[in-house]
Amino acid sequence: MNLLREIRTRFSTALKPLADDPAPLLELILPSKDAKFGDYQANCAMPLAKQLGRKPREVADEIIGRLDLSDMCDPPEVAGPGFINLRVKDAYLLEQLAAASRDAERLGVEQTDAPRTIVLDFSSPNVAKPMHVGHIRSTVIGDALARVLRFLGDRVITDNHIGDWGAQFGMIIYGYKHFVDEAALAKAIVPELTRLYKLVNQLIEHHDAQRRGIPDLRAKIAEREAGLAELEAVEPTGDKKADKQAAKKLKAAQAQLAGLRGELASLEEKVAAVEGDPKLAKLAADHPNIGKDAIGETAKLHAGDAENRDLWDRFLPACLDEINATYDRLGVTFDHTLGESFYQPLLAKVVDDLAAKGLATESDGAMCVFTEGHEAPFIVRKQDGAFLYATTDLATIQYRMNEWAPDALLYVVDHRQSQHFDQLFATARKWGYEDLELQHVAFGTVMDEKSRPFKTRTGASVGLMSLLDEAVDRARTIADKSEVLTSEGERQEVAERIGIGAIKYADLAHNRTSDYVFSYDKMLAMNGNTAAYMQYSCARVRGIFSRGGVDIQALRGAGAKIQFSAPAERALGVALLRFSEALERVAADYRPNHLTAYLFDLASCYSEFFVNCPVLKAESDELRDSRLLLCDLVGRTIELGLGLLGIRTVERM
Ligand code: ARG
Repeated sequence: MNLLREIRTRFSTALKPLADDPAPLLELILPSKDAKFGDYQANCAMPLAKQLGRKPREVADEIIGRLDLSDMCDPPEVAGPGFINLRVKDAYLLEQLAAASRDAERLGVEQTDAPRTIVLDFSSPNVAKPMHVGHIRSTVIGDALARVLRFLGDRVITDNHIGDWGAQFGMIIYGYKHFVDEAALAKAIVPELTRLYKLVNQLIEHHDAQRRGIPDLRAKIAEREAGLAELEAVEPTGDKKADKQAAKKLKAAQAQLAGLRGELASLEEKVAAVEGDPKLAKLAADHPNIGKDAIGETAKLHAGDAENRDLWDRFLPACLDEINATYDRLGVTFDHTLGESFYQPLLAKVVDDLAAKGLATESDGAMCVFTEGHEAPFIVRKQDGAFLYATTDLATIQYRMNEWAPDALLYVVDHRQSQHFDQLFATARKWGYEDLELQHVAFGTVMDEKSRPFKTRTGASVGLMSLLDEAVDRARTIADKSEVLTSEGERQEVAERIGIGAIKYADLAHNRTSDYVFSYDKMLAMNGNTAAYMQYSCARVRGIFSRGGVDIQALRGAGAKIQFSAPAERALGVALLRFSEALERVAADYRPNHLTAYLFDLASCYSEFFVNCPVLKAESDELRDSRLLLCDLVGRTIELGLGLLGIRTVERM
């Protein structure tokens, strides 16, 4: 049961004679911010009155007169300029709670009556190089969205669009041909490939920094320093506004300069690391063209070179095993893993078709699509004939449409790719996919506690597995402190669930579009909006049953009833019934943080209830049973909610 949706449906009927389009007005019916104004508040009378040229309170009265809500709510009240306050009847709430309690699978959450087919493109790492913390966000957010949308009744097809055809393969092939340690490779492929990738990458970056990066930055800095000196020389004019603006400009210029100097310092550090190591310095000197040559290896692979193709065939399965181990640990699965290589045979046709339709045109030998609002063209074939990320993504859209005829394609990808997706979507629409919902479900960068992109101390991006290991190690301290966990095996299992849960929850609880600071201490806190707190709340409910010797299954079936004897019980009941609203909000703007916020709110209501309403020592047997059922619903709601976020609960902790 979705109380809000039901109320909106009733309003829709009442508003029809008054408004041409009630839909936007219905959006103005929301949960009350303060319980003293009731459970829901409708703020639609004011804008409607404006449309009609009438007095808002009068319109509010007319809406109420037309509303058929008497079975569900107490008589609505008009407050202030025309707010309509609604309080749901206790009897109605109790009826819905009883229904939720009986519904083992869904706790009363209905499925959508208009299911959609949705392709969800998420995780999608470039394989053959270590997965890093940014890939967690895509994986965790995508997985949570898949679970929620499926639960609400949509047909969801998950597709891991791995990068298995890109430049990183040229790099490891180059590394293999020049630097491989055959014995190490025979022992374990992936660690050796990782070493090769990192080495080649380091050498390429070294040359790039020396040849271009550092000189370019120095020139830029000199230029900015001159500009800054000019700004600093500006005398105050006495005009407050102008001076303030000048000061602002100066500050911005200083910040920019500091940023550039930081970049330069980090490039210089990288160069020094190579120069300071005689072995590396020799490798760098012996491979002056490594950047170009690695690109050459990629080009040979793409052109069908037998040796490189053999190497790719040999390396790819190992890379896939590696990422699959991470997915297993995270409990994430995909319906399909169709990587970039899968689409290669389709690319030439895509470009031909775009050209035939007049959408792609030649410019400087490259085939380009010009999209509105973007200066740079969307290049689908380079001068040298090579296809690009863009071409593959266009072929992917075509394939997905032919194969699954989806209503929506969602891409859970770092916000830094937003320009790519803007152009991709604009091109796809021109290409004929106008009715398809195309969404870049973007997310922000994971930062360290000093607000820099999260890296390990050595400067390499953190490997995903070691990140998970550390979370679990730290969670082990929580498990070790517990008095209820008796065996070593149980402690380790609980630590695993708390640690992995903490990482996932922290990713999900932050509004996905903002950057967020990765902090083990915060994510593993037992208090606050964390997985550990939710898992603990759930275990606490189960603890009550075991302490009281309660057979909760039997109690559910025995006809025991929930009742409200105190305000905290009613508040908890309302919170429980808002579960479906939270899920719908997640589905509406693809933001799982609506669900974490809901769970946190529910857990807070539960704590309030717990303080005010003794359960095992309730005044009467009926009250005890009623409170046990409320506890039970809380535990099941948190468990289901966490489950929809891909997070497991624990029996006890
Ligand atoms: N492999 C890309 C990366 O790691 C992400 C791919 C996202 N999906 C897509 N269809 N473009 O940056």
